[in-house]
Amino acid sequence: MATLKKPYYITTPIYYVNDSPHIGHAYSTLAADVLARFKRLDGFDVKFVTGTDEHGQKIEKAANQAEMDTQTFIDMVSVRFRNLNKQLNFSNDDFIRTSEARHKDYVTSIWKRMLESGAIYLGKYAGWYAVRDEAFYAESELIDGKAPTGAEVEWVEEPSYFFRLSDYQEKLLAFYEANPDFIMPPSRRNEVVSFVKTGLHDLSVSRTSFSHGIPVPNDEKHVIYVWLDALFNYISVLGDENSPYWPCDIHIVGKDILRFHAIYWPAFLMAIDIPLPKRVFAHGWWVVDGAKMSKSLGNAIDPIKLVEEYGLDAMRYFLMREISFGSDGNYSEESFINRINAELANNIGNLAQRVLAFIFKNCNETIPKPEELLASDLSLLQMAYEAINKMRTLMDKQEIHNAIQVIIDLANAANEYVEHKAPWSLKNTDIAKMNSCLFVLAEVIRAIGILLQPFVPNAAEHMLNQLNIEIRDFTALTAEHAINGTKISQPTGVFKRLEVKA
Ligand code: MSP
Repeated sequence: MATLKKPYYITTPIYYVNDSPHIGHAYSTLAADVLARFKRLDGFDVKFVTGTDEHGQKIEKAANQAEMDTQTFIDMVSVRFRNLNKQLNFSNDDFIRTSEARHKDYVTSIWKRMLESGAIYLGKYAGWYAVRDEAFYAESELIDGKAPTGAEVEWVEEPSYFFRLSDYQEKLLAFYEANPDFIMPPSRRNEVVSFVKTGLHDLSVSRTSFSHGIPVPNDEKHVIYVWLDALFNYISVLGDENSPYWPCDIHIVGKDILRFHAIYWPAFLMAIDIPLPKRVFAHGWWVVDGAKMSKSLGNAIDPIKLVEEYGLDAMRYFLMREISFGSDGNYSEESFINRINAELANNIGNLAQRVLAFIFKNCNETIPKPEELLASDLSLLQMAYEAINKMRTLMDKQEIHNAIQVIIDLANAANEYVEHKAPWSLKNTDIAKMNSCLFVLAEVIRAIGILLQPFVPNAAEHMLNQLNIEIRDFTALTAEHAINGTKISQPTGVFKRLEVKA
């Protein structure tokens, strides 16, 4: 009888279609992709979704600036994000656009439920608004007349519906307390808790000064506030909250949009009795050679160019490995090249190439069967089979960089083992020992290939194809699945060394 797989639901932010995607956008989706692939290989029924955020004043402005009709404009930019997902080999199961009927219908029904539950009332907003952030700010939050994010603010006075956010201060604090892993990493949780403790004001959730959005039911002068609209993509993409994938296991977001996900989002859901997501993980920001990435500075890194230059897997590996997931990071070409050469080309690549080339040449293209395994052989094998347990614990905390370290440690241990055992000398002195040694190394390479799949899917596939391995999910990481007597293919280099450009 087939066992039912446990559902695992993971989301990325949906991207504003005011701008072309850059490496910062690719980063949110890449992290989610890596986590989704890991969970699939670990036997979960994964739903991984991403999409585009297409309403609001910021998009309307961008369309006007481009002198394009709004619909034509959002179609054009949304498709760039959709194409990027293909080009970067992202494994998302769906792509939601907030301009789609399935989304608009769900948000309209949510609005009605909120109104019926008494969570929404009509009033008048007078205060500051930053179009860039699509956010309202209190006077006390402004710094030198600007939003704390540096965005320009404008004074807005208009009739508006309000969400009774102030009712949720205590409920939210109690929820964070009872669910200490809801906001991750912990430093971010503390920020949110402090902010909520300072007091929450009711939130303006409709606008009347522009029209590009979902109309408020029965009061069509108003459009629904873009964040209320956008956040519900996480459910509209599933159909509704009765989907087996809800509540969500993890929302991956950037630190700049944590407030919306960790405060507004759970409060909206509480108001209409929808179960809350299990985790919101806020990642850091990439800067370039120490400076903020922006279109106006002309230093935004184009993910496609990076892939053309260095390859997709190198880019994926660098972004996931260079910084601890949750912290900010600096992109520089030098650190990129150093990281790839040290860990992929020299460490893992060399190991696989020298061992497999040796087997291909000296063992009739076949992985030898071991006669006797010594303690030193067994301890390396054990390390290879147990790596998944360490990685699983780390990936469940989204410590992606540390999970990769487990693979690097294994490759280091295998490289030391090769040096120490010197199979090329055993060839003339002790064939049985040489066979054991090569078997152990082939097993380590098999494990590394399997474990690398979420991070560098193409290269890992290449490694596993050379070994002619069929079962590639994490259940294969045991001695019972060991390969011996298997014919291998002519090994070719898996990881290229990158050259510094002149
Ligand atoms: N539309 C909202 C999200 C709505 S989710 C219901 C939004 N869109 S965005 O396009 O501006 O940003 C999307 C994501 O890209 C955010 O998680 C943001 O943190 C991330 N990044 C944008 N620039 C970035 C860097 N330079 N570095 C890392 N991530 C960055 O916000």
